[in-house]
Amino acid sequence: STSLPVSTTLEEVFPSEPRVRQAKPHTYLMCRPEFFTVTYKINPWMDPALPTDTALAVAQWQTLYDTYIALGHTVELIDQIEGLPDMVYTANGGFVIDNVAYGASFTHAERQAEGPAFMRWFEGAGFAVAEPQNINEGEGDFMLVGDTILAGTGFRSASNSHEEVAALYGREVVTLNLVNPNFYHLDTAIAVLNESADEAPDAATIAYLPSAFDAASRAELQRRYPDAILVSETDAAVLGLNSISDGYNVVIASRATGFEAQLRERGYNPIGVDLSELLLGGGGVKCCTLELRR
Ligand code: ARG
Repeated sequence: STSLPVSTTLEEVFPSEPRVRQAKPHTYLMCRPEFFTVTYKINPWMDPALPTDTALAVAQWQTLYDTYIALGHTVELIDQIEGLPDMVYTANGGFVIDNVAYGASFTHAERQAEGPAFMRWFEGAGFAVAEPQNINEGEGDFMLVGDTILAGTGFRSASNSHEEVAALYGREVVTLNLVNPNFYHLDTAIAVLNESADEAPDAATIAYLPSAFDAASRAELQRRYPDAILVSETDAAVLGLNSISDGYNVVIASRATGFEAQLRERGYNPIGVDLSELLLGGGGVKCCTLELRR
């Protein structure tokens, strides 16, 4: 089996951040893309005229699964339903904190049947399920950073879902306005690198693409995370930000080489995975991964 390092001393590589990055085991929900294809277009990445290779999608997905297992994480699985090709993007199936799963209510008709399918899975897995009252696409637009929830709107999740989430979890929710249709979910424009609340204020807690946000949201991100990693358009354009961090290891798109170097410089351990086939549906590493916080 692959052996991967679990921590490093930051003093050696980034003297202004004398901390140790610590990997924490996580539990994720994934969906093997047995029925993956692109038959409709609900984001600019999708083109039903282009051929897809389901076997290749499954093989690439398997590499991501194996990477999580090698890192010591737990992966639970939901079966894909035929006719719901986007189910592989489990991040959109809900938002789970403290054993409570806030269900998804999809924007587009093509994905609406996924909402109840994920809610049934959460129930069966022992989560308390909160039936959503407003349009929202789960962890695609809700990201937990410390005790704060960053919430995206503009293309998919409605801003009234942000209020619903704030009331449900009793946490601060920060609304961020997405303005570029290529980055239609918050998790295509922001990467959460360190979820824990005890981060020093200068830490590289998140990474983001500034141009994906309106001026007010950019100012808010700058104020809250002055030492965030700012990612290039080139890296964002291969969905480099659509990544999963355990606090030390960061699983990213292998083509996001600039982001990879930035992560290394800040004491993280980037691990590249090629999900080119799943990119045809407009999703990457993070989209294929839903965090289950029990
Ligand atoms: N085809 C899917 C859609 O447009 C891709 C979802 C990507 N998921 C994500 N968390 N960004 O809905």
